[in-house]
Amino acid sequence: MTQPLEVVVLAAGQGTRMKSDRPKVLHRLAGCPLLDHVLRAAESLGPGVLHVVYGHGGEHVREAFAGRELHWVAQTEQLGTGHAVAQVEPALADDALVLILYGDVPLIRPQTLQRLVAAAEGDRLALLTAILPDPTGYGRIVREDERVRRIVEHKDASDAIRAIHEVNTGMMALSARQLKGWLTRIGNDNAQGEYYLTDIIGLADADGVPIGAVVVDDNDEVLGINDRLQLAHLERVHQRREAERLMRDGLTLIDPARFDLRGSLRVGRDCVIDVNVVIEGDVVLGDRVKVSANCVLKDAVIGDDVDIEPMSVLESCQVAGGCHIGPFARLRPGTELATGARIGNFVEVKKSTIGPGSKVNHLSYIGDTRMGGGVNIGAGTITCNYDGANKHQTVIGDNAFIGSDTQLVAPVEVGAGATIGAGSTITRNAPADELTLSRNKQQTVKGWKRPEKKVKSEK
Ligand code: UD1
Ligand code: CA
Repeated sequence: MTQPLEVVVLAAGQGTRMKSDRPKVLHRLAGCPLLDHVLRAAESLGPGVLHVVYGHGGEHVREAFAGRELHWVAQTEQLGTGHAVAQVEPALADDALVLILYGDVPLIRPQTLQRLVAAAEGDRLALLTAILPDPTGYGRIVREDERVRRIVEHKDASDAIRAIHEVNTGMMALSARQLKGWLTRIGNDNAQGEYYLTDIIGLADADGVPIGAVVVDDNDEVLGINDRLQLAHLERVHQRREAERLMRDGLTLIDPARFDLRGSLRVGRDCVIDVNVVIEGDVVLGDRVKVSANCVLKDAVIGDDVDIEPMSVLESCQVAGGCHIGPFARLRPGTELATGARIGNFVEVKKSTIGPGSKVNHLSYIGDTRMGGGVNIGAGTITCNYDGANKHQTVIGDNAFIGSDTQLVAPVEVGAGATIGAGSTITRNAPADELTLSRNKQQTVKGWKRPEKKVKSEK
């Protein structure tokens, strides 16, 4: 029988160098809190319990993850990593295998954690280490005859130990029973006056417990975030990873360095994304979709052969195949475009369905509208959907033609095949197949003269 797994994520640190009012683990990478990245990596292992040690900004941290299945453990004073783990100790099942992670090391990969957990089988202690060109600040891995013997923190290290490039990443896997025993034996007699979790390595070695070091392949996986420069660095590392994954899956990115994914993106075949596109939430592109420069797509489902021109912003909408959007279009939540619809420049659509092949090409606002197919909406058309208190519906039948600069004052219905004369303010239903217009009669004042500027007499 395999050992039950429990994960402990340390997230109580203050993060002073962020110079922020927000707890460090709630700063965002790729649109998600740092801690969320770590939790997702941990969850991929299917642990029995996921413990999170929180401290600074505790309530905010807990609120940010409300609804997640987590065991929260408060560490009111940050007395060191050993002290942090000791707060969870009573909750750990004796027969569990414990995996310890840091809440501010966001790019750790599930595969690496699997290797670490596998290395801890059979009552071994498995440590994740890294070989860094500049190991300054890290705990050093001290080996004798190749075997890991102990960890010495940078501040406590001699010059000879500081010359070691293999460092402790902080992540480790070990048996709960053994961990519990060692935690009772660590003190805080060191340069920082802290309870170091790393002291258990020396204790394990003294107890004859084999220590396995798993050296990480990619150092970016174990980089922690202490300030906003490191946050920006890891953001770019993460974006590069995601861009490469998508390109391998067949997406053309015109410039992978100018693409940002802050959520999930699924793409069909032969899609092209131009520069400075931001994807948020869950976005799905069909086949042969083209997203031009400077677009933002959030929670959008886009059908095959859709062309999204530059500077368009789409949120919580569904776009069927063959639609043409933008440039400078804004599709707000609840917009549904049927096959072949066209939304042009400076057009805003909200909570509306646009029927197949209908066109709203210029300078319009369409809100709370149900529009049939084959409709043509002239430039400057506005659905007046809001009376200052409530929103009202506009219904436009198939093949209606709305002349330019029309206001449709909702609730109102334009029948199928109806034509609305340009410049109309439509306040009552317009019947099908008829011309309806509301317009002052045009008149000409014969012989009218423009006023002339008076010439000032000089004094
Ligand atoms: C720790 C390790 C060091 C390792 C380095 C890797 C110890 C003693 N040292 O050092 O060997 O090279 O990480 O980055 O473990 N935390 C708490 N409560 C505390 C203290 C820390 O929850 O009381 C959390 C922090 O939020 C952070 C993690 O533990 O996520 C590491 O703490 P940090 O202070 O950054 O440890 P380092 O001194 O960098
Ligand atoms: Ca650190």
